[in-house]
Amino acid sequence: LPRPQPALNGTCEDILRVGVVGAGLMGSGITEVCARAGLDVVVRETCPESVEAGRRRVLASLDRGLRSDKLTEADRDAALSRMHFTTDLGDLADRDLVIEAVAEDEQTKTEVFTALDKVVVRPSAILASNTSSIPIMKLGTATDRPGQVIGVHFFNPVPVLGLVELVPSLLTSGQTRARAEDFVTGVLGKQVVGSQDRAGFVVNALLVPYLLSAVRMLESGFASAGDIDNGMVLGCAHPMGPLRLADLIGLDTLKAIAESMYEEFKEPLYSPPPLLLRMVDAGLLGKKTGRGFHDYT
Ligand code: CAA
Repeated sequence: LPRPQPALNGTCEDILRVGVVGAGLMGSGITEVCARAGLDVVVRETCPESVEAGRRRVLASLDRGLRSDKLTEADRDAALSRMHFTTDLGDLADRDLVIEAVAEDEQTKTEVFTALDKVVVRPSAILASNTSSIPIMKLGTATDRPGQVIGVHFFNPVPVLGLVELVPSLLTSGQTRARAEDFVTGVLGKQVVGSQDRAGFVVNALLVPYLLSAVRMLESGFASAGDIDNGMVLGCAHPMGPLRLADLIGLDTLKAIAESMYEEFKEPLYSPPPLLLRMVDAGLLGKKTGRGFHDYT
């Protein structure tokens, strides 16, 4: 990953202190890429156990990067020294940019934005969300600074995938959008695609119906999980098949995204199929719990 560079138009030079809310799959990946880009990162989780789980996730990913020569031991140690874990949201007070990456649930995210609005003191601070499907407008209007609220949507695994979707709401200022874009491209070295504030944005609007179709195909007995995945890996050169990808995303997260999209568009293709609902009820959430459509134990 590149070191921080002066932004192309100078608008994000003041973003040096980053906060991340949530150290799950996405929050830990965002923490890693920010720390590897030379930024000081404070990560907030709700309890010591979640802090430890988040720290372990970041360590495992850094070690994977080390094993595949993507970074040196010195880079890893420097990145670790730049990240600080906390359970106190108040520790994000001095941040220039806070990226929220908690569970894909509207009420939870709205509460985080209301709380961040009270805590983050810098007048120019940007409050960003990694949501994939919840309207940025709802998060913006949960604060007194909707002009500084924007969607900054990363992809999993965050250290590997080079895309970020930028999603301004109707109330997001042009300056916030420009600073966020400069930050993502100039500091994190990722590419940006822009999207209107519609559930699913660009990528999930295309990806989620595909993943749900694979679940329906399995559910109807049309083909086995292995054959569905092999079909797309070998027949279309996808890096992984749709059911394995659903397992990677997390079946609870996929269900939540599908529900938000269904709520927004009322299109049957976004409606989560019963098999997905039952698997989430059963706690079979994919790779993170050891079993989903495939077994990871
Ligand atoms: N740090 C740095 N590099 C890493 C790394 C890390 N932590 N982990 C892996 N890498 C690198 C490896 O070094 C390797 O690089 P090279 O190709 O240069 O050798 C590359 O990433 C692939 O890693 P692996 O060889 O270990 O693993 P793989 O080939 O099995 O690939 C995968 C794993 C990257 C997950 C790949 O299968 C993939 O890209 N799958 C698709 C993932 C995808 O579609 N994600 C989007 C999900 S949708 C989403 O996130 C949004 C949402 O809202 C739901």
